[in-house]
Amino acid sequence: MKKSVIAIAATSVLAVCVTGCMCCKKGEGMNGKEASVVVKPFGKTKDGQLVHQYTLTGAGGVVMDVIDYGGKIVRLYTPDRTGKAIDITAGFNDMAGYETFDPYFGSLIGRYGNRIANGKFTLDSKTYTLPTNNEPGGIPCSLHGGKKGFDAVVWHVEPLAEGETVGLKLSMTSPDGDQGYPGTLKVDVTYWLTPGNVWRIEYQATTDKATPINLTQHVYFNFKGEASGDILDHELTLFADKMTPVDKGLIPTGKLASVKGTPFDFTTPHVIGERINTKNEQLEFGGGYDHNWVLDNPNGKLAKAAALFEKTTGRTMEVWTTEPAIQFYCGNFMTDKVPSKTKGKNLCYRGGLALETQHSPDSPNQPNFPSTILRPGAVYKTTTEYRFGVKE
Ligand code: GLA
Repeated sequence: MKKSVIAIAATSVLAVCVTGCMCCKKGEGMNGKEASVVVKPFGKTKDGQLVHQYTLTGAGGVVMDVIDYGGKIVRLYTPDRTGKAIDITAGFNDMAGYETFDPYFGSLIGRYGNRIANGKFTLDSKTYTLPTNNEPGGIPCSLHGGKKGFDAVVWHVEPLAEGETVGLKLSMTSPDGDQGYPGTLKVDVTYWLTPGNVWRIEYQATTDKATPINLTQHVYFNFKGEASGDILDHELTLFADKMTPVDKGLIPTGKLASVKGTPFDFTTPHVIGERINTKNEQLEFGGGYDHNWVLDNPNGKLAKAAALFEKTTGRTMEVWTTEPAIQFYCGNFMTDKVPSKTKGKNLCYRGGLALETQHSPDSPNQPNFPSTILRPGAVYKTTTEYRFGVKE
């Protein structure tokens, strides 16, 4: 399909209908919305780089504010069962928020989503050392790509449209040796917002030396609205009958455990808070749910991984992915010391949850897990969809 590319004025507000459809020419898309991409300045990084915000308005009622810094979703408005759209994601109103606190709110994550034990791995007989930036249980590891991961760089952004679907192509090159990883890695991530309220993410990368790669998105959801209390009342389904147990450093032991008969069994819908305080070593290590579930999705086709529902608003979401695993993190490290986007309100413990589609943590050190090594000549390609809806 033909993609329209819109020229962006770097510092001015620009509103355009990028779809070129008949209804938008009349100023209205499906459901009365005009699909568009609008760009405006968001701020500056500490080292002086300009950061822009892109607002994607979908014809079906979902609106997303995305910044080129880390590809972060700053705001995500989805309709509730009455049609009222509010912001359902954690984020900050300014760069100071993102650069002072670092909870990966709404961020693209790379090169490696989640943890690599001791910040070390061996590839083709060579051992690589990554600077460590996290130490759960007092045990150091490399988390989410290191001290300056893909969440903390300014990406090149190109607005896109295909019919009534609007999007952004985010691109960056991670140089050889970046955060200790080998190879020049060229990365493209495309966000699409469809008239059917699907946020589709397409990840693509190539390298000139073999390297681990595990890209994901760390958006946090709270279907009652950002800064509206905790997410323990959300009902979750995970289409996975196995998970990867961790040690107290939150590194997988390498075993696959059946979820049957445990608080990790979300194969049927369960409210998140229902079993979170059960006496269970894995829940103790994670401080709650912070684990990786192995999906019943062996062939890499786009398949349903998770479903989320909040009964007071009626909001639903399905997560579909080509990835073999999903990290469910229920905001155990969130605190009420962090400001929200709503004036005068702070966030709170477990104020959001993340469903990060990916390969399992520490795969470069786990011979039994599916490989995360990308080699020159191969193309890394994965897709994830967050499908928003409502039910009674
Ligand atoms: C992931 C990890 C958590 C935590 C968050 C970021 O989801 O699994 O342990 O580090 O990122 O706060």
